[in-house]
Amino acid sequence: MYLFINFKAYRESTGPSAKRLMERIEEAFANEDRIKPVLNPLDSLLKTRYEKYIQHADAISSGAFTGFLPMDLLGQYGYKGIMINHSEHRLPLASTRKSVEFSKVHGLKSLVCASNLEEIKEIAEFGPDMIAYEPPELIGGDISVSVARPEIIKEAHQLVQGTGIELIVGAGVKNGRDVKISRELGAKGVLVASGIVKSMDPIGVIEEMLKNMGD
Ligand code: G3P
Repeated sequence: MYLFINFKAYRESTGPSAKRLMERIEEAFANEDRIKPVLNPLDSLLKTRYEKYIQHADAISSGAFTGFLPMDLLGQYGYKGIMINHSEHRLPLASTRKSVEFSKVHGLKSLVCASNLEEIKEIAEFGPDMIAYEPPELIGGDISVSVARPEIIKEAHQLVQGTGIELIVGAGVKNGRDVKISRELGAKGVLVASGIVKSMDPIGVIEEMLKNMGD
């Protein structure tokens, strides 16, 4: 199982705080390849031993663009993957498709977010590496997707089964129990932000989550 940590644009996890948080995590979990930080583009120069993802980039190649993040340049910043269509950075379906295509061309893993089963079906057609099911209304809240939407997670898992696409779940994931339920329902990973970044004890939370991942 994977633990995607979305650093979002919180003060606690951008700029110097991103560096400090990453150092603390690396110190505590030195040889841990299940952790995958998802960084704010502002922190693209941040180095890490983990496989790092960017929260968004554009399906364009480098050139005369202003304020865009050309996907072909991500490799030189050490990125291994890209998150696409997060609820807080929604894209039209056609742009999501283009981003998945671009990510394949540039050897980046794609983690595409979907807010419901219909979207999961549509996005699965594009053949991303992973689909993250995140009900938007639960993001940043106290009730986790695994507790509030177990049936949907199960159905989502059935939808991607046999396609090679891995199911990730997120929204309100806060502890080991949420991780365990997600795993039992077929998720290959969890996508967590506030449960770790805003916690008084991010290392303790990560430790508990990792313990409940099973492998
Ligand atoms: O990308 C992860 C995210 O949207 C979930 O946020 O704060 O509910 O863990 P949070």
